[in-house]
Amino acid sequence: MDPIAFSYNEIHKTVAELAARIMASAYQPDVIVAIGSGGFIPARMIKTFLKLPIYTVGISLYVGENVTLPVPKKIQWIDEVEQKLAGKKILLVDEVDDSRTTLEYCIRELASHHPAELAVAVLHNKDKEKRGVIPTEVVHYWAGEELPDAWIKYPWDAVDIEAHDRMILSLPSSQP
Ligand code: G4P
Ligand code: MG
Repeated sequence: MDPIAFSYNEIHKTVAELAARIMASAYQPDVIVAIGSGGFIPARMIKTFLKLPIYTVGISLYVGENVTLPVPKKIQWIDEVEQKLAGKKILLVDEVDDSRTTLEYCIRELASHHPAELAVAVLHNKDKEKRGVIPTEVVHYWAGEELPDAWIKYPWDAVDIEAHDRMILSLPSSQP
């Protein structure tokens, strides 16, 4: 399947619509936790609408010793996480729900620090068989858009943003 590319403006509109759904819900988060690095820019965009402080965690998938499948590894974690997040309502933000491996790992880590509640917002969820699960501690799960299992090209990964945007304009309107 061909990659699906998004412009900054398209992402902004997805975030605006996603934030509107979050605000219309009964869930009122106290803090955003962004999963880096893909979740950093989406979290900052969501902050424009929800006006909440952002904490960040850095997690990456790596192939560990005697492990054939990649497993998540902490690159950076919130200092004094227990004091910062205990008793808080967290909105965990990432750009894409792909295999769910990183997402599940991160949710379980955060849940172990006794937040009051935990919800998840992703820009895009891929319709595919998942390796991870969304643990039952998660009270809300929001996806900006449901997409097929294709590679998503985000504008922040583009070295030449004009070429990235030109490519989007030249594509047939087959994008969701
Ligand atoms: P998930 O739990 O959120 O589903 O993520 P998963 O572990 O399956 O994803 C592994 C890495 O691949 C993640 O980056 C994720 O952001 C990235 N990824 C998955 N699908 C896509 C895609 O379609 N497009 C792009 N651009 N990235 C994708 P990571 O290893 O956590 O690192 P980082 O890039 O966020 O720093
Ligand atoms: Mg990521």
